[in-house]
This record gives sequence, C-alpha cells and structure tokens, in this order.
Amino acid sequence: MKVPFTWKVTGWWQVGWSHEFPVGEVRPLHYFGEDMVVWRDEHGELHALEAHCQHLGAHIGYGGKVVGDCVQCPFHGWQWGPDGYNAAIPDQDKPNRSKSLRVWPVQEQHGLVFMWHHPHAEPPAWEMLDIFASYPEFEQDPGAYYDPFPMFIAKNEREPVHPQIVLENSADSAHFEFVHHATVRPKLLHWSFDEHLWYFIAGWPDHHDPEVMRLKIHSKLFGLGGAITAFEGAQNHRVVFSTTPVETGCSDMFYTIWWPRLPGDDSPTAPPDLRERVEKEFLSSVEDDLLIWRTQKWIEHPAYSKVDAKGYTALRKWSQQFYDVPPDD
Ligand code: FES
Ligand SMILES: [Fe+2]
Repeated sequence: MKVPFTWKVTGWWQVGWSHEFPVGEVRPLHYFGEDMVVWRDEHGELHALEAHCQHLGAHIGYGGKVVGDCVQCPFHGWQWGPDGYNAAIPDQDKPNRSKSLRVWPVQEQHGLVFMWHHPHAEPPAWEMLDIFASYPEFEQDPGAYYDPFPMFIAKNEREPVHPQIVLENSADSAHFEFVHHATVRPKLLHWSFDEHLWYFIAGWPDHHDPEVMRLKIHSKLFGLGGAITAFEGAQNHRVVFSTTPVETGCSDMFYTIWWPRLPGDDSPTAPPDLRERVEKEFLSSVEDDLLIWRTQKWIEHPAYSKVDAKGYTALRKWSQQFYDVPPDD
C-alpha cells in the first residue's frame, strides 16, 4: 500500500520471540530497511548491531560467532562488543576504537523480543509497556496462563500492510460484523491517550440485553508497534498483536496469546481441544483482516461512520508523533 507517511516509524517493535535466539548463536535480521546482526551472549543477554563489519563489509549475521559478550566477524575475526565498538582484532594487541557499529536497543519481555527504532538512531525516548504489569486489574502472573510457545503464536511475513492501517482497525467498530462475521456490533466504551500509549475499551453487548457487556476488550497500543490486549468476561486471555515494517511497502506481523489455565491443569501446554479452538477462533482471525488490508487503498479524508468519527480522527492525530521523517519515496 502507498501511504503518505514513512515506514521508518519511531518506537518499540516486535522483531521475534526469545526462543528464536538461542544462547551462543548469531542471527541475521532485516527491519526498517536495515540489516542487523543479533546474538545471545554466554550470559543469556541479547544484543543487536548493524550487520556489516566496518573492516571489509561482511554481514556478521551469516557465519558470525559469539565470543564472550562480543560477536566475531566470519571474514577476518574482528570482534564487536554490545556497545557497538570494535573490541578485538586478531594478531593486533589493540582494538580499533575509532570503529563502531550502530547499536539497535533490544528488550525481551515474557518471551517476546522488542527493538527500538528511530530513523536517526536516537536512543529510546520512552519505555516499552509491560505485557502483564500494564493491566494491574487483571491476572498479572504469566504462570496463570499456558505458555504461548510454540502453540499459541503466529507470524505473517512481508505483508503489504503499514502499521497505521492495523492501528486504525482498533477504532473501527463497524468492520467486525462484515470482516469477522460478528453477530453483534461491538461498542466503543472508552478511548483515551497518554503520550505514547493509546487505550481503548470495546464491549460486546449481550444478545438479550444490549446494555450488558458479555465481553470487554481492553487494548493498549504501544505507539504504532502493536497492541497489548486483555479480554474480560466470557474469555480472559491476553494477546499481543504487533506489526513491524521490514522495509518500505511491507511488514511482518506477530501474534501471541496467553490463555488462562484450566483450573487444576499445570501441564505446560493447553489440551488439544483448546488448542484447536484458539487456532480456529483467534490465530486465524488476522487472515480475515488481511483479506482487506492486502489490497486496501489509503483514503486521506474518509467519510467516517458516525459512531467512529471522533475516535478515528483523534487516533490519526495521535499517530503523527511517531513519524519523525517525511514519507519514503
Ligand atoms: S570484514 Fe569483518 S573482519 Fe574483515
Ligand atoms: Fe479486524
């Protein structure tokens, strides 16, 4: 999709899951049009740097090795530290401290890996929301839910979808009936924002009494990177849905679900019938949206439906703060 804003959006972004980065291993990554190398050092810390070695330009993510807390280039063995600086050169008694690679700040939370991106490499300007602590009113212990790995996660790669489009979906109560085949239309009960956080609550009215909400969906958007959602009522699971630009024109999408344990069940994974249900009802629901998103065109001045106009306009205005550079060509 062609959009009038950049794909190099500022903020925290999911770039994977922790289990994809084992101790002592080096991996390549590519987001925001940039090549990166990621490694987990022997103490278990995760680090990320720009990928291309300052010596002769090898991509360290292909064949690099972990040495202590450094990553070693596969070409001539130069070592680079988590601070980005050259830390050692074979057969030389001193490193070349004038050489350094861009550091990509990474943070892990409950098995998810987030990366800070600023188009001019500025350091994190705000903290990533905590997936569990951000909802003190609900169950905060991850152990009260089934481990989402590997059953309750899903990823779509290189979809032609800008994060702004996904974000706007949350202000759009009218699409549930048509896209998601909902039998009742959800009501937007509340929306507010505070700097980098957007908070909304939607309610699913009871068939018999529209004033009673059968299910409430609480969603906190961490900038344009995605949403941490807590369900309350008929279901009480927790979801992180994130969209991360790979380069101009496409994004990866990540979906992680924490489903509350059935009473008395302490096995690590959910029973098969529950797995099937989550897979069918939730993990696949993103496909419904993608059917629209993949071919949607950006409308700058939409004729909003009456119920959604206020929220939509405010959301679009709020999202401007994450665009620190002009649109890509
Ligand atoms: S290119 Fe990396 S050490 Fe030579
Ligand atoms: Fe949707």
